[in-house]
Amino acid sequence: MKILIVDDDKLQRDPLVAIVSGWGHETAAAIHGAHALEVLERFRADVIVTDLKMPRMDGFDLLRRLRESGEFPPTIVLTAFGSLDLALSTVHGLGGFWFLEKPVNTSALELLIERAGAHAHLVRENQLLRRDLSFRGVLCDLVGVSKAMQEVFSLVRTVAPTGAPVLITGESGTGKELVARAVHSLSPRAKAPFVALNCAALPEALVESEIFGHEKGAFTGALERRMGAIEMAEGGTLFLDEVAEMPVQTQAKLLRVLQDFRYRRVGGQQELCAGVRVVAATNRPPPEAIAAGRLREDLFYRLSVFHIALPPLSQRKEDIAPLVESMIHSLNQKYGTRVTMPGEATLELLRARPWAGNVRELRNAVERAVIVAGEGELSARHLPPGYRQTQNHVMPNPAAPSEASGLGIRVGMPVEEAERILIEATLGQAGGNKTRAAAVLGISTKTLHAKLRAYLGEKKREA
Ligand SMILES: Nc1ncnc2c1ncn2[C@@H]1O[C@H](COP(=O)(O)OP(=O)(O)OP(=O)(O)O)[C@@H](O)[C@H]1O
Ligand SMILES: [Mg+2]
Repeated sequence: MKILIVDDDKLQRDPLVAIVSGWGHETAAAIHGAHALEVLERFRADVIVTDLKMPRMDGFDLLRRLRESGEFPPTIVLTAFGSLDLALSTVHGLGGFWFLEKPVNTSALELLIERAGAHAHLVRENQLLRRDLSFRGVLCDLVGVSKAMQEVFSLVRTVAPTGAPVLITGESGTGKELVARAVHSLSPRAKAPFVALNCAALPEALVESEIFGHEKGAFTGALERRMGAIEMAEGGTLFLDEVAEMPVQTQAKLLRVLQDFRYRRVGGQQELCAGVRVVAATNRPPPEAIAAGRLREDLFYRLSVFHIALPPLSQRKEDIAPLVESMIHSLNQKYGTRVTMPGEATLELLRARPWAGNVRELRNAVERAVIVAGEGELSARHLPPGYRQTQNHVMPNPAAPSEASGLGIRVGMPVEEAERILIEATLGQAGGNKTRAAAVLGISTKTLHAKLRAYLGEKKREA
């Protein structure tokens, strides 16, 4: 170990240095507190042994200064015979120190040095462990400790370097775009562009030109040649969001890009070479989209060389606390607030919700709560009104639905609002299981999905 010995008295200091070096330690010496601080800048001591009474900076000041500096090596304080009580009371509250009365009993000192060194080792190891822990459960901007998300992380790490197409599926708000960005940033293409195109947001007539570009005069209004997303993402990643909303003819052209890396601009003759990696996402379950004729089966197989399926948030409740923690952290930075983690009761409340809007809905709720709270512990009263009550998790017998009292449904309220409240409450009781909730509500799962989607669309527009 590296030991720093601080004593103004040469007659004390030199023998001490000799003894400690004799035990096999590397030593350095300082003649007072200020000198010790100087030496510590070059000499990373594992343990400090210091006298108390010294000119310039004495031992007490040295201890105080060490404390203020944050991390400091464990320190053994040598006190004059009979002054131990005084030393203890003076240093009281400074903590982290060991005391030894003079004249120094060398075997006691040896033992203390060993113990202090072991303590320092533990502290360091603990810090490393904590850092390690904070890294676990995070991949790029993705947070998740659940088994399901850990599997997603490992898949992302595996596929990222390959350049193969990736299909990401999952309900709205489960993090499909974040996963796509993670695939890009962990790939050798990270420095080239990531271009995202939302196929659902584009008018059908424009989709092709947006993806493949067009030549001047290709159609009315095509006054200039225009680069498509494929060209813009050259060398990088093209993210095709909501790919099942892409017109089926366009899907055929996309398939060609995936198979032979060839394409033509709209209205163009020349064959161009596509140097992009395609990552696609959809919140429609592919089998349903294929059956409905919205997604070409051949494109689906080509895209899903790697298929990453994101589970709904209600199926990974362990992720809620770490997600809330990381959201609070980034929101505090965004708004300059000083909000801290909610207690277990509030977390339980959050875990009990159905989270039909998944992580996006959680983020919206936490964002509102952080703004409302401003500082201090986040709690249920900061959450949006509908989030403040625990939901009953016991599944009612479908034949005997439980009372709707307490739900806040009032005579004269719009039917849609009442319906939404009823759907949310039923989903809550069904533990987020949509098939069961739909059965209880007496509607098809498809209808329930459609209603939830419409509800989410509203929320997105509000946001
Ligand atoms: N695992 C996660 N860790 C941290 N934040 C997440 C995670 N998943 C989602 N989010 C956050 O939730 C919000 C929605 O994520 P994202 O846009 O990636 O979802 P999506 O699946 O693409 O949704 P949609 O289908 O509606 O487009 C974003 O604010 C995103 O940062
Ligand atoms: Mg998205």
